[in-house]
Amino acid sequence: MTATSRASRRSRLDDLLEGTVIGSFSSLGYRLRSRTWNDIDTSAIDGKTVVITGATSGIGRRVASELAFAGARLRFIARNPRKAEDLKRELLDRNGSADVEYYLADLSEVANVRRVAQQILAAEPAIHLLINNAVVLPATRMVTPEGLELAHATNLVAPFVLTNTLVPRLVESQPARIINVISGGMYAQGLALDDPNYTESTYRGSVAYARAKRALMVLTKIWAEDLSDSGVAVHATHPGWVDTPGVATSIPTFHRVMGPWLRDTEQGADTILWLATADRPGASTGKLWHDRAVRSEYRLGVGVESAADREKLWDLLSSTADSLAPASSR
Ligand SMILES: NC(=O)c1ccc[n+]([C@@H]2O[C@H](COP(=O)([O-])OP(=O)(O)OC[C@H]3O[C@@H](n4cnc5c(N)ncnc54)[C@H](OP(=O)(O)O)[C@@H]3O)[C@@H](O)[C@H]2O)c1
Repeated sequence: MTATSRASRRSRLDDLLEGTVIGSFSSLGYRLRSRTWNDIDTSAIDGKTVVITGATSGIGRRVASELAFAGARLRFIARNPRKAEDLKRELLDRNGSADVEYYLADLSEVANVRRVAQQILAAEPAIHLLINNAVVLPATRMVTPEGLELAHATNLVAPFVLTNTLVPRLVESQPARIINVISGGMYAQGLALDDPNYTESTYRGSVAYARAKRALMVLTKIWAEDLSDSGVAVHATHPGWVDTPGVATSIPTFHRVMGPWLRDTEQGADTILWLATADRPGASTGKLWHDRAVRSEYRLGVGVESAADREKLWDLLSSTADSLAPASSR
């Protein structure tokens, strides 16, 4: 078989997997696709500063661990001091010369996101990689002390404020990358901007989660466009279905039924690490990646947004953030 026919067979297999959600998102998809991949060369991240959210659990923990091991200056944001200290100790035990520090912030509150972003700007002269990975999938509607619905606040408003605050430092540090971890759950949802805090509409946690992820995908494209000449590439990626503490506690039935077919965290972290370190993703921006390939953002035409929708999303998030800014800065 020639190299061309091998490549064409690989591409047909990939299309087939992509066409079936289970084939693509499960560990089967990973196993079949990864057969032809090279090991990730993480040397490009050595000495570079990485800021990551959600590093104390699941996929983020694996990504953080691999990046610290590869020599990155790892800076993670965590809300739980004990978990943060445990992770730092674990990383130092694995590699005594790892450069790891953490910042404490509950990202569900805009005031905390602003504070921690300013702390990071004050302490880190360069930022080469920002990974927006923290997530929550509430079973019932919960409201933050600032009056926002919890999934909207944590999964969307927080990355919006954190990214916009850190962007100037990423630009100064270019070449730099931003990776937004989204979810295949967004394929079933479009932007829903009229009642973002679910004060009027019926609440379902999985829907709130998926809508926030759809919106983060749209933000990825807006940031990519805004930063197109700045040396900062912006990527979105969905990791597939991964066995993590979050999945086990937030969607236990799915976790039980899909158990054998869930990816492990090494598999779930793979494309994030690849986007963080490989050459190829540095040459594109504003795309959705899964299993080291660009994927469509839409399935069956669901969730396609217009230019006006994008603008409305940006305005909504800006006005939410502004309304929660300290009076002195308004
Ligand atoms: N696992 C999957 O199958 C799957 C599928 C599609 C997409 N994803 C995406 O992959 C990413 C990681 O998911 P995961 O399954 O690894 O999640 P996870 O195990 O639930 O971990 C979530 C992380 O976010 C942190 N976090 C939550 N709320 C926070 C807050 N208010 N302030 C600060 N940190 C907060 C958690 O901190 P604590 O440790 O303190 O709780 C934890 O470190 C997410 O973006 C998710 O949407 C995952």
